[in-house]
Amino acid sequence: MASSRRSVALLGATGSIGTQTLDVLRHEPERFELCALSGGEQLSELAAIAREFSVPRVGVISEAHRATLADLLGPSVEIVVGDEGLRELASTCDVVVNAVLGFAGLPVTLAALAAGKRLALANKESLIAAAPLVEKVRRTPGAVILPVDSEHCAIHQCLASSPGETGYPDVRRLLLTASGGPFRGWSVEQLAGATKRDALQHPTWSMGAKITIDSSTLMNKGLEVLEASALFGIDTPRVDIVVHPQSIVHSMVEYVDGSLLAQLSSPDMRLPIAYCLGLPVRLDHGYGPIDFTQRVELTFEAPDRAAFPAIDLAYEAARVGGAAPAWLSAANEVAVAAFLKDELRWCDIVAVVAGVMDSYVANALDSLEDLVENDATARRLAHGILLP
Ligand SMILES: NC(=O)c1ccc[n+]([C@@H]2O[C@H](COP(=O)([O-])OP(=O)(O)OC[C@H]3O[C@@H](n4cnc5c(N)ncnc54)[C@H](OP(=O)(O)O)[C@@H]3O)[C@@H](O)[C@H]2O)c1
Repeated sequence: MASSRRSVALLGATGSIGTQTLDVLRHEPERFELCALSGGEQLSELAAIAREFSVPRVGVISEAHRATLADLLGPSVEIVVGDEGLRELASTCDVVVNAVLGFAGLPVTLAALAAGKRLALANKESLIAAAPLVEKVRRTPGAVILPVDSEHCAIHQCLASSPGETGYPDVRRLLLTASGGPFRGWSVEQLAGATKRDALQHPTWSMGAKITIDSSTLMNKGLEVLEASALFGIDTPRVDIVVHPQSIVHSMVEYVDGSLLAQLSSPDMRLPIAYCLGLPVRLDHGYGPIDFTQRVELTFEAPDRAAFPAIDLAYEAARVGGAAPAWLSAANEVAVAAFLKDELRWCDIVAVVAGVMDSYVANALDSLEDLVENDATARRLAHGILLP
């Protein structure tokens, strides 16, 4: 008899979003069935997840990883390898959670949509880099993107009261909230001395290392502006950023009549993950409630765009269009990886990205080959700035 449970592929299962998705699945065994997994370097963690959820298919990044995982799991589990493996896994289940880190998540996004799946998208980098390609495949019957990013999930919920016409003409603007990160209020002079330890201390969210650093430079918010525009078809001049240090208002939609709709909950990524898995049903879990018996303070302020130039770089990449967002994201990945390996100072992360964007030559992004080439060029330029 066919299972009535919704089948889920969780790609990037060993990371921060992956682990929190597993938490949601543990609480809903009657509703969901984990049918495919993937991971990167953490093979014993991946094997443990496969065993716990009796997952029949697992993806790894190389033949060497396949051999190690096969030793851990035995012959009953099918192991697939590389981008082709990710594409296979993303084409089979009802819901595909893309929790892979960075540009490596691209095969998942494209394959899930091309196969007409529900894509619960945490991996913003693939959407930002490949927006014109994603636009084509998301028209596949059945394909839908539900945003896991808390800001975009909030906007998705707020837009539910809109007729959903192309471009949302009744929406004046989207307001993406930002915690401001660990360096909110720091001057340019203070930022010059920011350390890795400082940058990894996010005030309200516990996340993977790359997005935590992106949050400290506010590049994450810049990337989210591009993400919101691609997701909702709203041009970036209609996407604003407002700093909200408490991370309770996850984002807002302002309508032309002046109404402002917001989604509020405690900062817990399991809420947007559960929303994306369960829709149209809202799952009954305890992740989001706010305790109003305690004093709840909600404050808002403008971001300091001079101290955090990543924001303007992202708006400029959106204005230029074409492959510029792909360059921005690729250069940022290289710079953040270098910073995490202690090869770059915090204050030089965005300078590297700016240096790469200065070299951008307008070019179209019509095919996957174009995209891969652009990604490689931006990375090469970023490495060139790191190692002159
Ligand atoms: N964390 C959050 O709260 C949050 C919130 C909003 C959006 N996001 C987005 O969600 C995505 C994942 O973020 P995260 O914080 O969960 O990252 P993370 O903790 O670093 O986890 C990344 C996952 O991707 C896997 N991975 C890394 N490199 C890979 C590669 N080259 N090929 C295949 N798999 C690879 C990792 O495997 P191993 O660990 O086994 O190496 C891990 O399973 C990012 O795009 C991020 O921007 C995250």
